[in-house]
Parts: sequence; structure tokens; C-alpha cells
Amino acid sequence: MHHAALHSASQIQLNAIGDLRHFVSIEGLSRTHLIQILDKAETFLGQDGQILNSPQLEGRTVMNLFFEPSTRTRTTFEVAAKRLSANVLNIDMQQSSTKKGETLRDTLWNLEAMAADIFVIRHSSSGAAHFIASQVCPQVAIINGGDGRYAHPTQAMLDMLTIRRHAKKPFAELTVAIIGDIKHSRVARSDIQALQTLGVGEIRVIGPRTLLPKGIEDFGVRVFEDMDKGVEGCDILIALRIQNERIGSALLASSEEFYKLYGLTEARVAKAQPNALVMHPGPMNRGVEIASTVADGPQSLILKQVNYGIGVRMAVLALTMQGQMAERDLRASI
Ligand code: CP
Repeated sequence: MHHAALHSASQIQLNAIGDLRHFVSIEGLSRTHLIQILDKAETFLGQDGQILNSPQLEGRTVMNLFFEPSTRTRTTFEVAAKRLSANVLNIDMQQSSTKKGETLRDTLWNLEAMAADIFVIRHSSSGAAHFIASQVCPQVAIINGGDGRYAHPTQAMLDMLTIRRHAKKPFAELTVAIIGDIKHSRVARSDIQALQTLGVGEIRVIGPRTLLPKGIEDFGVRVFEDMDKGVEGCDILIALRIQNERIGSALLASSEEFYKLYGLTEARVAKAQPNALVMHPGPMNRGVEIASTVADGPQSLILKQVNYGIGVRMAVLALTMQGQMAERDLRASI
């Protein structure tokens, strides 16, 4: 789907009073929406990794529809839905009747008929979540668990929560670097949009020209092809996964070469601010985009990101359901 079409569709996320009813992209949301998600997530998170229970989705049915592999997103959505007292179903889309020729539209209408309230969708096509929210099942809250290269908005929000919880300065004073394969990364796209919406002082992207999207300079970021210069003075370093299919292609010579030029090593972390924070969305390729000593080191927040992801996903499940209910009440009262 063309990105211009997606842009105009971004308002489908909001109900008639401007609250979230789907969560498909950061694009189109205000700072107030993002802060609301972060604040709501905090209500579910205790200290030391504790997750609180809440009955906010009691009697609701959440269906996880993952057409692509996932460890963190699928599992944390399941944990989040259970913590909110919802019924949760993980549907193996590899085994579903879409394999027998049933269209995606028919599959989703059948699942909707089973009284689904929320679909969490991961799909390899950019725009899949928008398409479903706007054209297929507008009465079901659609949450994007990652679609193609387009968006991974709950990842961006858990990254923002991690930064808000651990950075020693407000967003406006931070310099944040996103490192690696920016071009093919839905996480990079959503992170850049969220960081901009929250008013981060400086956003840098660091990577070889072949892994940077055309016209990246127009995104309001500083571009560095030299990793050692790019990390200098940063408060937050976000390493991205190198997608294995790029290695050995025209875009990326070899994983050894990438590590030499762009690997997040202890020496490079030392060039950033003292106690700079290290993040990675996972899954990680140790020794390719990040050194094991950095991934497991004292500045790494990688497992905290996963833990905070539960609170963020609880927030998004609860808020979108609330937005759908408000929309139904408004329609009923007209
Ligand atoms: N970060 C992330 O989306 O991981 P999964 O692919 O395991 O869900």
C-alpha cells in the first residue's frame, strides 16, 4: 500500500471525540496521546519488574493474529491481555484456512463473528493493520504488532517508556541515536516519529548509505555514516537488528565488516555520554550489531524494554477498547 494513502488513513485510529480506538501507527497521534499511553502504562507497572493485575478487560476477547514470527510482541500481548482479565487466543495463522485460499477479509470476518473485541496483528505487508482497521473490521480494536517496513508502534512506545524511566534529562535535552538498518526497519520509523512527537532535542541515525532510506535527511534527523562520530555525546544508543537476508547482498558485504564499522562495542559506548543508555528491540545478533559485553553490560536496558512492553501493551489494549466503547455509545445516542 502506498504511504500517501496510509498518511490520510491515520485518522482512522481516533474515535469521534479524538481518543484512540485503534493503534496502528504513531503517525497521526499527538503528544497528548503518547503521554496518555505512557502514563496509563505506569499504572500497571510496579518497581523491580512487577506487573499489576487489573479487571479492565474482563469478559473481552483478544485475538493474537501473527502472520510473521515473534517472540516478544506476541508473548507480551498475551501476558498483557491475561493481566487485564481478558480471554486471549493465539491463532496460528500458518495453520489457518488462509492457506486453503480463504481471503484475509473472510478469515477476519469469521473471527469477528466469534465475538472478538481486539485483534493484535503482525503481518509482512506494510499497511496491513491500516487496511484491516479502515476497511475490514472497524468495530474491532485493531492493534498493530508490526507491519512490513511501515510501523511497530507498541515497540516505539515501550522504547519511549524506557527512555522516560531511565534518562536523567527531559526528552527535549536528549540526543538519541538509532543505529544500523534504518531503511528496512519499522522500529526505526516508529521510534523516529515518537521521538519527534515527544520533542527530543536531537535524533541521529547511523548506518551505511545502503541501509539508509532515500531522503532520510528530510525526516528531521542528523545522518552519520561514520559510527565513531555518530555516537559521540549521545545519551541513548538504540541498536537495530541486522536482517540476515541483507548480509552478503549488495546492501551489506558481510556481518564481520558490519561489526567492524557499525557494531556497538564497549569502545564506542565509551564515546557517548558517561552512563549512556543502550537499547535494542530484539531479536539480537550478538557480535553483528552489538557486542555481548554491551548487551549484557551495566548500561543495557534491553530486558527492561521487554518488561515495560507488558505495561505499554496493557495500556494500549485498555485504551483502544475504551475508545471503541465510547464510539459505540456515541453512535447509539445519535
Ligand atoms: N521487538 C520485537 O518486535 O520482537 P519480536 O519480533 O520477537 O516480537
